[in-house]
Amino acid sequence: MSERLTIAIQKSGRLSKESLALLQACGVKFSIHQARLLAHSTSHPIDLLRVRDDDIPGLVMDGVVDVGLVGENVLEEVRLEREATSQRADYIDLRALDFGQCRLSLALPKEQSQLSLADLAGKRIATTYPFLLQRFLKTQQIDAQAVMLTGSVEVAPRAGLADAICDLVSTGATLEANGLVETQVIFRSRAKLIQRKQPLSPARQQLLQQLLPRLDGVQQAKE
Ligand code: PRP
Ligand code: ZN
Ligand code: MG
Repeated sequence: MSERLTIAIQKSGRLSKESLALLQACGVKFSIHQARLLAHSTSHPIDLLRVRDDDIPGLVMDGVVDVGLVGENVLEEVRLEREATSQRADYIDLRALDFGQCRLSLALPKEQSQLSLADLAGKRIATTYPFLLQRFLKTQQIDAQAVMLTGSVEVAPRAGLADAICDLVSTGATLEANGLVETQVIFRSRAKLIQRKQPLSPARQQLLQQLLPRLDGVQQAKE
């Protein structure tokens, strides 16, 4: 059996650079080949699996990888989806990280931005996060339709596919460029380090235990 610790990180996106930088700052060295999914550390018995962020929570929950670095937005969406479909959805929360801050928000076309939450009843809301959206709508007792899009959510109103959107906002530039106005934050997110619930071999658990204080040190030094 392999004694290498497997860590899943986002291949390309908002968390990729900082995920790699964090591991490197912890003294874990990698040489990354853009085309390769798997990277072996040259300093530790660690393998890096570079995948789509959406796949990371499931890989951890299924125990396919040992730990994952992922945004809470994706983590919570996948958890809700797996719970709804009776799939295993547990994991161990290791650390909240100090990067990847963003929010999941409702946004409306500028001309409609005076509409209240209640006005969304009966409307179509485009999103990549249908479970987080529906959970929010339920707490507000609003009956609206989630229109699932895996990308280009911000163009949905203009394309006539939806009346509003529910998408990630970080700088706000994407909303601005598409004539949309953020009207309601529904979830706040940052990057997290999570571990699978299935026990690791003693060697792998020990390696992880050695890395965590280093990670804490790196994060404190940045404060
Ligand atoms: C999100 C979101 C917007 C953008 C918002 O996509 O869908 O496109 O970020 O950021 P801004 O407010 O700084 O303009 P992201 O690239 O994170 O994820 P995706 O590739 O999974 O859509
Ligand atoms: Zn994504
Ligand atoms: Mg996007």
